Amino acid sequence: MTISDNTPRRWLRRAGEARLEFGADYNPEQWPRAVWDDDVRAMREAGVTIVSLAIFSWARLEPRDGEYDFAWLDDAMDLLHANGISVDLATATASPPPWLTTKHPEILPVTAEGNTLWPGARQHWRPTSPVFRGHALRLVRALATRYADHPALVAWHVNNELGCHNVYDYSDDAAVAFRAWLQERYGDVAALNDAWGTAFWSQQYSDFEEILPPRLAASHPNPTQQLDFKRFSSDALKEHLRAERAILRELTPDVPVTTNFMVMGMKPMNYADWADEVDFVSNDHYVVLPNPQARDELSFSANLTGMLAGGRPWFLMEHSTSAVNWQPVNVPKRPGDLARDSLTHVAYGADAVCFFQWRQSRAGAEKYHSAMLPHAGTESAVFRSVTELGRRLRELAPLAGSVRTLAAVGIVFDWESWWVSEQDSHPTDRVRYRQEALDWYTALLDNGIRADVVPTGGDLEAYRVLIAPVLHVVPAELAARLTRFVESGGHLVTTYFSGIVDENDHVWLGGYPGALRDLLGIRIEEFAPLLDGDTAELDNGVTGTLWTDRIDVVAPEVEVIARYKTGEQASRAAITRRPVGEGSASYVSTRLGAGGLAAVVPSLIGPAGVVSELPPELRGRVELAVRGDHRFLINRTDEPVELPSGTLEPRGVRVVT
Ligand code: GLA
Ligand code: GLA
Repeated sequence: MTISDNTPRRWLRRAGEARLEFGADYNPEQWPRAVWDDDVRAMREAGVTIVSLAIFSWARLEPRDGEYDFAWLDDAMDLLHANGISVDLATATASPPPWLTTKHPEILPVTAEGNTLWPGARQHWRPTSPVFRGHALRLVRALATRYADHPALVAWHVNNELGCHNVYDYSDDAAVAFRAWLQERYGDVAALNDAWGTAFWSQQYSDFEEILPPRLAASHPNPTQQLDFKRFSSDALKEHLRAERAILRELTPDVPVTTNFMVMGMKPMNYADWADEVDFVSNDHYVVLPNPQARDELSFSANLTGMLAGGRPWFLMEHSTSAVNWQPVNVPKRPGDLARDSLTHVAYGADAVCFFQWRQSRAGAEKYHSAMLPHAGTESAVFRSVTELGRRLRELAPLAGSVRTLAAVGIVFDWESWWVSEQDSHPTDRVRYRQEALDWYTALLDNGIRADVVPTGGDLEAYRVLIAPVLHVVPAELAARLTRFVESGGHLVTTYFSGIVDENDHVWLGGYPGALRDLLGIRIEEFAPLLDGDTAELDNGVTGTLWTDRIDVVAPEVEVIARYKTGEQASRAAITRRPVGEGSASYVSTRLGAGGLAAVVPSLIGPAGVVSELPPELRGRVELAVRGDHRFLINRTDEPVELPSGTLEPRGVRVVT
């Protein structure tokens, strides 16, 4: 199975042989001019092919309102080009300069509590400020005009990590834009009242003008207002991306436009909805420690990014060579981690491996963040590992452009279910949507089974098995689609708190799991979440936490795979499976964690005929990813693993054709 090529994608504007790109954010403005020559010399030594330039350069490029200074950037672009290094040029709008915020403090974001986010860090702008937008677009136009034909320019980098710090803005600008967005969605206020269930707590609106963002309130704000504000906030930044892109496409139609996503855990941006807005998908990823699943999380993020890219190549815009600086404790990477992390992204379709940043800063908030060229200089283990990685990527050039090979199992990833399942005033506030999805991913890896992490809007029908953890928001069309999937022989596995609400966060009536009740052949009258520390043992030896359900088995053909042995639900069904023709619909009513899920995965997907593509002795120890005719074997352990082709060192990656 290969992913169909239905969305047009473009890659860098450059001639020459296909290659895997290698590089970093480059911030020459932080250094005296003489250092730049050392930079390009070391870049060549490391095999750097591309840098992202001018990401935080607005104050330098436009030192006073409407006055531009491009001389230094001309110099940097020329120098890079002369050394054969391509430029992914930023539009430089990420961090507004002091003159702008002094003149127009009304561009500063406001929190739900009414606090202003002041300048002094970065990204201090309201996504919906017309004043900010005007100044930003003027800069984009000036840059695009100046560099349209520069031979170093191969791609545009819109802003930077849109929404990293400023996605939820509750300012008056946001209120105005939110109202317009709601008017567009609902047409009239009666439809909004209906969707928001405003009969509750005397919230009926008589005019759109009365509506506010969900600012700090006396109790739980209206849940549908919260959901719509999340949708709106994601859309507002998408709108900013489109506004910059429109100018770039007008002035440089032959240069592809991208912006760096943060698929790792930036919940507010619905990237499934953004993915078609860029010419190629880019992502930033950082390993957050301590976390026993850190390595699987990297794989999960890379996997999802590749699916957002429709299986086609994508751009790893940033990751770290070693420690970051923004966790409470920032540990360096161990030998092998750098290459393993980078190549795992390549395994899931990255055709570019880039870092934040090229040269480690001497000053500023990120001076303790690792870089390709550390404080210690080129005589360092980090720089040697970087150079070695550059060599390896040159060797892997034949991979460039190859498309991911689909797995038989898809893990459904749904942004709206993520948003809503974790909102307030629920049966428990302990649900962690992404962790549940990641636990299933780990459980499959532990069984040696490849899976794709596929957004709800993706090609779900391409899979033999769909695992839909906490698929909480299920509009009627999605329920119908999943039912068709099962009736056509597909195998669906879902979990607690799935199928509960529609697109307005209104509960499906008649018993849970609402929209999926008939398909699953079970009925639940009351949820029974568990208190912290409480557990429920199942009769197949695994233990549940967080949640249980009082399940009544309704359809006679439903098989009970496991029952509760202890706790309030003792003797009731805990895991069920309803055969439907050649297909099936299964339900897991408690949180089993990665270990528990690994134990039950075979009983759930075995009947679908899905088996590991790895020999038994490698299952769990080695992760397999497939791109075209290349198979990536990634050592998941800190021990050597014997492969037919020789020893795979701890944390090692072998690419075989
Ligand atoms: C983000 C930003 C970079 C840098 C890195 C540090 O990804 O885009 O500018 O701050 O984090 O990890
Ligand atoms: C209070 C309120 C009710 C309701 C309940 C819920 O008693 O008066 O309106 O919110 O709490 O527990």
